[in-house]
Amino acid sequence: MKRFTGQDRSITSKWRPATQAVRGGTARSEFGETSEALFLTSGYAYDCAGDAAARFAGEQAGMTYSRLQNPTVEMLEQRIALLEGAEACRATASGMAAMTAALLCQLQAGDHVVAGRALFGSCRWLTDTLLPKFGIETTIVDARVADRFADASKANTKLWFFETPANPTMDVVDLKAVCGLARERGIVSVVDNAFATPALQRPMEFGADVVAYSATKMMDGQGRVLAGAVCGTEDFITNTLLPFTRNTGPTLSAFNAWVVLKGLETLDLRIRKQSENALEVGRFLEARVPRINHPGLPSHPQHTLAMAQMDMTGPIFSFEVDGGRQQAHALLDALALIDISNNIGDSRSLMTHPASTTHSSVAEEKRLEMGVTEGMLRLNVGLEDPIDLIEDLDQALTAAGL
Ligand SMILES: Cc1ncc(COP(=O)(O)O)c(C=O)c1O
Repeated sequence: MKRFTGQDRSITSKWRPATQAVRGGTARSEFGETSEALFLTSGYAYDCAGDAAARFAGEQAGMTYSRLQNPTVEMLEQRIALLEGAEACRATASGMAAMTAALLCQLQAGDHVVAGRALFGSCRWLTDTLLPKFGIETTIVDARVADRFADASKANTKLWFFETPANPTMDVVDLKAVCGLARERGIVSVVDNAFATPALQRPMEFGADVVAYSATKMMDGQGRVLAGAVCGTEDFITNTLLPFTRNTGPTLSAFNAWVVLKGLETLDLRIRKQSENALEVGRFLEARVPRINHPGLPSHPQHTLAMAQMDMTGPIFSFEVDGGRQQAHALLDALALIDISNNIGDSRSLMTHPASTTHSSVAEEKRLEMGVTEGMLRLNVGLEDPIDLIEDLDQALTAAGL
């Protein structure tokens, strides 16, 4: 009996990204379902004791326990790997589980890490608090200048870690230059690609070794579940990441994997439309606020670089008001359509004040050094009609005295 049939990767790897996002990684059970099956099971039964022993010995293909493998989760892993152009992918329970695993699986006491200063708050906690606790030293650099990574590196530098565009400053890192410098030195480059997703930017094409995701964002895209993913070579995923994730257990639930599979089907459509909407809203805001950080606008200092390495610039950007936290909060409080929410990548427009939410765990002086000012607001532009969003912003700006 045909039990579960996967795809022939020599065929699927030739598909274009929009096709991969809908069909990549699909495996069908004997029922021939068109939508991916949801396997809510923690364990698997074997036909005989010998099969169980063979599977544990790695001599027989098949599942053993859902902390280690699950058919629905595997479909998602293969779909993300195909989209990324990576040899392999491992899904995790959240974006932070992905970042933590991607770093800790390959580091040990005595290693040194260089990281971009503009990182998501919890990623800065990893570099500034967690890694040093385990004897791993970190140096933080301005990732907009590629040479800073090389200048900060030492004989024991194992890894460079950065995100681009960065949350929430929208700093853009030159992927080709930084990943190239890392390769020359035998240093592993780890890129957090959550803002762009493989639909808009594929860091491995520029030489990145490991690409990690919060799939909670654009991949789910409708604000439903938390998920993460780490992509790399087959050797890295099998021999470095898997021993760590199998034994520490940051496993993605099958249900959440299924939701993200559904999300990926519309990723290309959503991210392109949201990028267009974000540009329209950005152009409006540019004329009304003192500063805007939108890599899709020519006013962004790294606009040319962003356009060279991204297909479009995505739904998220930030802007600043001169009246600090008080005026930023007043603007948020006056919104009638856009939600005050710290999530991003949703099909709904959401706005937050990073200094008092996503980056509140980062000490004030570090926040300022990162460029996260008290007057900064971050906006995720959704799929609503951009004219309604502009009208909402217009009245909120007026109410906040802008
Ligand atoms: C750039 C970036 N990386 C990682 C994360 C963490 O992802 P998660 O919330 O899925 O753990 C976030 C969350 O906002 C993020 O913006």
